[in-house]
Amino acid sequence: MNATAREFRELYGYPPEGVWAAPGRVNLIGEHTDYNDGFVLPFALPQRTEAAAARRGDGLLRLHSADAPSGVVSLDIAALDPAHPPPGAASWAAYPAGVVWALRDAGLPVGGGADLHVRSDVPTGAGLSSSAALEVAVGLALADLYGLALTRPELAALARRAENAYVGVPCGVMDQTASACATDGHALHLDTRSLEQRHIPFDCAAAGLRLLVIDTRVKHALADGAYARRRSSCHEAAAVLGVPALRDLPYEELEQALAGLADPLHRKRVRHVVTENERVVRIVELLRSGAFREAGPLLTEGHASLRDDYEVSCPELDLAVAAANAAGAYGSRMTGGGFGGSALALIDADAEPEVARAVTGAFRGAGHAPPRITTAAPSAGAARLR
Ligand code: GLA
Repeated sequence: MNATAREFRELYGYPPEGVWAAPGRVNLIGEHTDYNDGFVLPFALPQRTEAAAARRGDGLLRLHSADAPSGVVSLDIAALDPAHPPPGAASWAAYPAGVVWALRDAGLPVGGGADLHVRSDVPTGAGLSSSAALEVAVGLALADLYGLALTRPELAALARRAENAYVGVPCGVMDQTASACATDGHALHLDTRSLEQRHIPFDCAAAGLRLLVIDTRVKHALADGAYARRRSSCHEAAAVLGVPALRDLPYEELEQALAGLADPLHRKRVRHVVTENERVVRIVELLRSGAFREAGPLLTEGHASLRDDYEVSCPELDLAVAAANAAGAYGSRMTGGGFGGSALALIDADAEPEVARAVTGAFRGAGHAPPRITTAAPSAGAARLR
């Protein structure tokens, strides 16, 4: 019995029916493109959220997290309502409750209820999709327990709906899809319009490379309005340009399109999205030909675009990127929504101590709290553990 199952038994007094796990993600490239119908290229982290679960018969949902001090949160499934998500110390429970609400709302029967215990080693607020990991782990557990015929992309869509409509974060579908659908040793090339997926081999270790994840420990909060404002700007600009979404602007026609936009903010946001989609396409080609190192400069270019045109970086992320590159990284960028969270650096495997030291030293020199530096190998998506 693993630790999560054991804790479930201690907590509820009987063993769980199973344990399910779903990973966090790092996005290699394709940032702020998923709500513009564009392309993304995330991969799953080895860090994951585990959910031990068992069905009940009385319509109650009992939730407990090893990582939150809220105790057991008990909710009546029939009464779940996006207008009244769990408050205060139990606000983490809005993610699993939202998934149950989304299942109920989609006409999928989970009405008997469930007992759930979760534990996670995905850092929260680090831009590594701890919320998607929680949603997908719980969604997969309930789908399996109740025998619901949900495909992985459907599970991802449902988890995203939970986050949009129940938790109130207007995110795209990238994080949940990465957590539900990624495969070991691959990055996931997702077309967020057609939802077509391609699994691109990305075995960094075999190529003598390493991916460093530098968590700046600056907490990001996507719900604070800045993310939603970026999203609205993009939709406004698409309307001005007469296209359904910024995805529909070909890279070759960017200059012409920019000339047709009167609002300088629209011009910046559009330039980021269109060039970022192009960077995804180019990096996919490079990975396919095994030219991993050549992707580095495009990562750094993507960072500059997020910093200058999309304006979602912060001084700590900029410093992490500059310091990693100065210490020999092939390229680096912030990853995830931004305003804090983590940066990613592509480095030679044997350069890890040196780059980590350089980044930590730069943070110390600038008076920032020390970053948390880990490595990430593209890992498997969600699965039942037992
Ligand atoms: C967050 C959102 C994603 C995506 C990224 C930015 O992680 O959850 O849907 O928009 O920001 O690329």
